[in-house]
Amino acid sequence: MAAPMNGFRYIHKAIRHELDALETLARSVDGDAQRVSTFTQRVDFLREVVELHAAGEDEVMYPALDSRVPQVTRAYALDHQYERKIFAEIGTTLAQLARAAGASRDESSRQLSQRVTALNATLSLHIWKEEEQLLPLLDAHFSVEEQGAMAGRIVGHIPPEMMRPLMPWMLNALTLDEREDMLRTLMRALPAEAFRGLSAGVKARFSSADWAAIVKRVPELASV
Ligand SMILES: [Fe+2]
Repeated sequence: MAAPMNGFRYIHKAIRHELDALETLARSVDGDAQRVSTFTQRVDFLREVVELHAAGEDEVMYPALDSRVPQVTRAYALDHQYERKIFAEIGTTLAQLARAAGASRDESSRQLSQRVTALNATLSLHIWKEEEQLLPLLDAHFSVEEQGAMAGRIVGHIPPEMMRPLMPWMLNALTLDEREDMLRTLMRALPAEAFRGLSAGVKARFSSADWAAIVKRVPELASV
């Protein structure tokens, strides 16, 4: 990782990966009860991840940037409010879809697809701007130590019970090089027992071949 805050690129990548998957999936949810329920769970999880991520930015990263680079973060904070609104609309549409029948089911289905496409477009643009504008500004105005402290405070926003499902979800979207980098960064940052617990959760969610490839890169995980 070139700088600690570049870890943001990994969570961004995982968010975009899930948005693409949900946009495709939304076209075939129809009103099928099982598909609506699975889709709702995935959207709820993504919403929680995005909410925690945005909270870290609103409370830590943007105020830090404001102190050295005025007039930049306001538009990004407004994006967060807009994203919340679309997530809420998707939640409403999914609730409608769960009870709808006939023509109203087709209408809700169409609306769901439209709103998930809008969410993907909005959130992907927001993330892209953060990577193109905000992360380079952090690199230009904050030392590696300052960025490390900031990253630590942002990760501190994530409750431990959320870290467990979050890690495999995130690593799933990354290349092997990125997985190795992410795991090594966590290994340095976390107490040994906490890291071990997280790794066990990842192992349980990965195929044995994928896990073996990770262990080859990070041999410290062989005993997990
Ligand atoms: Fe953001």
